[in-house]
Amino acid sequence: MSNADIYHEMIIDYSRNPVNYGKLEDHDVTYHDSNPLCGDSIDIDMKIDDNKVSDIKFHGKGCAICMACSSVLTEIAKGKDLDEVKNISKNDVLSELGLENLQAVRIKCALLSLKVLKYALYSYLGKHLEGDQDVDKLKEEAANLY
Ligand code: FES
Repeated sequence: MSNADIYHEMIIDYSRNPVNYGKLEDHDVTYHDSNPLCGDSIDIDMKIDDNKVSDIKFHGKGCAICMACSSVLTEIAKGKDLDEVKNISKNDVLSELGLENLQAVRIKCALLSLKVLKYALYSYLGKHLEGDQDVDKLKEEAANLY
């Protein structure tokens, strides 16, 4: 079996049996977005304790790539502190599934959940600003997310 075959199997498997799929009733932040080209949509709920993602779930609908990347992303984010979550990159997600050279038209499928996660994170941070945190800096970081 080639690497391409293995990654293909992983994507199919994740899409049939998504990991961290569902809703978190007891969440600290939730965010939703959709891909206007296909109508697929993803919601992410996060529970945050001690500045860490103690739990995370996603739900919604999407193509196999979208569902697989959402699963992988939530696996990556779970347990991470918020600064680490800020730094999760497109490549961190794509490389887990061998999608580094994905066609431009499918990139939005692969990265919809990352977009939702980053907006959820910044929405949480915006509501929990403390002391010396600079609102303008936060807005600037958020504007450069995507
Ligand atoms: Fe809609 Fe991929 S076709 S997210």
